[in-house]
Amino acid sequence: MKNGESVVDPTSTVGGGVVDVYGEDRATEDHLVTPWTVSVASGYTLLRDPHHNKGLAFTERERDSHYLRGLLPPAVSTQELQEKKLMQSIRDYELALHKYVAMMDLQERNERLFYKLLIDNVEELLPVVYTPTVGEACQKYGSIFKRPQGLYISLKEKGKILEVLKNWPQRSIQVIVVTDGERILGLGDLGCQGMGIPVGKLALYTALGGVRPSACLPITMDVGTNNQKLLDDEFYIGLRQKRDTGKEYYDLLDEFMSAVKQNYGEKVLVQFEDFANHNAFELLAKYKTSHLVFNDDIQGTASVVLAGLVASLKLLGGSLTDHTFLFFGAGEAGTGIAELIALEMSTKTNIPVKEARKKIWLVDSKGLIVCSRKESLQHFKKPWAHEHEPLSTLLDAVKAIKPSVLIGTSGVGQTFTKDVVEAMEAIDKRPVIMALSNPTSQAECTAEQAYTWTEGRAIFSSGSPFDPFEYNGKSFIPGQANNAYIFPGLGFGLVISGAIRVHDEMLLAASEALANQVTEEHYSKGMIYPPLTNIRKISAHIAANIAAKAYDLGLATRLPRPADLVKYAESCMYTPNYRSYR
Ligand code: NAI
Repeated sequence: MKNGESVVDPTSTVGGGVVDVYGEDRATEDHLVTPWTVSVASGYTLLRDPHHNKGLAFTERERDSHYLRGLLPPAVSTQELQEKKLMQSIRDYELALHKYVAMMDLQERNERLFYKLLIDNVEELLPVVYTPTVGEACQKYGSIFKRPQGLYISLKEKGKILEVLKNWPQRSIQVIVVTDGERILGLGDLGCQGMGIPVGKLALYTALGGVRPSACLPITMDVGTNNQKLLDDEFYIGLRQKRDTGKEYYDLLDEFMSAVKQNYGEKVLVQFEDFANHNAFELLAKYKTSHLVFNDDIQGTASVVLAGLVASLKLLGGSLTDHTFLFFGAGEAGTGIAELIALEMSTKTNIPVKEARKKIWLVDSKGLIVCSRKESLQHFKKPWAHEHEPLSTLLDAVKAIKPSVLIGTSGVGQTFTKDVVEAMEAIDKRPVIMALSNPTSQAECTAEQAYTWTEGRAIFSSGSPFDPFEYNGKSFIPGQANNAYIFPGLGFGLVISGAIRVHDEMLLAASEALANQVTEEHYSKGMIYPPLTNIRKISAHIAANIAAKAYDLGLATRLPRPADLVKYAESCMYTPNYRSYR
């Protein structure tokens, strides 16, 4: 901001979109541009270009026509053989972090092979490129850091963010994942080292959702860190100062959001990731009416949990309004899920959202959220302050509220004790128990505990994965309410329809699509989520539902509307198979 005015020149944004952002027309004559050149890669340069490198899979003809003779050993391999070899070497690493580094090296060496591995081995590699391993990688990012994998925008770039965006080599960006590193997973403030999160999330956008890798842009906003250990670390890669807050912080974010829209247009999706909850709610509320924004911690979590609940209804019968919900933890995840449940109830039964909220109760670190606490509550908790006497423990709340669904989003492990779970079972023979806190050590209870304490009757799911569990000769497969089910398909649906805003009804549409993918066979094993191995198919269905909603709500710009949206989504998905070169 200069003298209170935005430094971003509004004249170059024409009709809500961008006509030309790289200085090729008169409206942008006075803009500074980056002189990118494009040339055909061959020889050594081709082998060093991760977008086009195929390693030993270059054919004899390609080796001749692209000056590769002698630069590669004689063997010609297939992509499948390369995949087999790499999976073998990744499995040989004992430490998860070494597997992570091997995957990142591959991404920087041979992008298509990286995505092929990820797509074909999704259940095995998801925990490597994303949570939990990515958390450790972020903690050690300073020493792992080799080459830029995304853009760093720090306070030093204030006033120049538009120019910084133009330094990124790809122009047609469709999805940005941005973090300020303040609340990385359950690990707290990792400052600039949070970059591993946008990088990992975008890898999943491509592998699970089908967004082209070149259309993805990871960004870390560095406003300092309050993590003293990092500030004292001589290898720390970020700004060496305490976090900027208040006006400074919001001005930087404002400049960023304007520059993004100016550079990439109205249809670029900005996903806020791992912001601390005081900023997360505010940023979402501030930009959701002017930009295409999405917060996975709030909205993605809500959508994936709602899908699990909708699927549970097939086992339990009845509708959501027949149930009473109790949350343990009332932060981004808890209140986000609660709000979406209320919206779904309201949509399905025509009762006002305000009424629907009365079926949902939340407990935070100070006990049950009730009217008498209203004055001191954070704004996002206020809608959940119902009329009731104050109660301080979860067990008391369970006994008084008599919920049929108990959802843990507290980040505090082992808090669904035997007493709590048995009290749930005393209310409802088949209680729904979701222990969503991550990582595994923070889960409110384990799958084994939930099944044992309810003699196999609980419908259980968790945030972190648990192994299948045998009880009384029956095998149970605990569901994992993994956000990776929803956000890649949701983002892809926005991209393929050219949507300009995220509407809450889209979150409901995503939940419905996911719940519809649970089959009778899955239900018979106690599953309320389909296996992740089918994720590309699931994402295509979610994308189709999202796109349909965007068209119905008049928010889609890619016209005409395709007749079969599932087929359309499938046909638009990025595939990692090698292409043949001329
Ligand atoms: P947050 O910090 O926004 O909220 C935490 C909430 O828990 C606050 O309301 C706090 O008052 C409450 N709390 C803390 N200690 C408590 C205690 N001892 N007793 C009762 N309440 C307590 O955090 P956020 O983002 O909502 O995440 C919470 C947890 O949910 C984390 O462990 C996170 O990993 C997990 N999560 C799981 C997801 C999934 O399974 N798909 C997605 C997002 C989050």
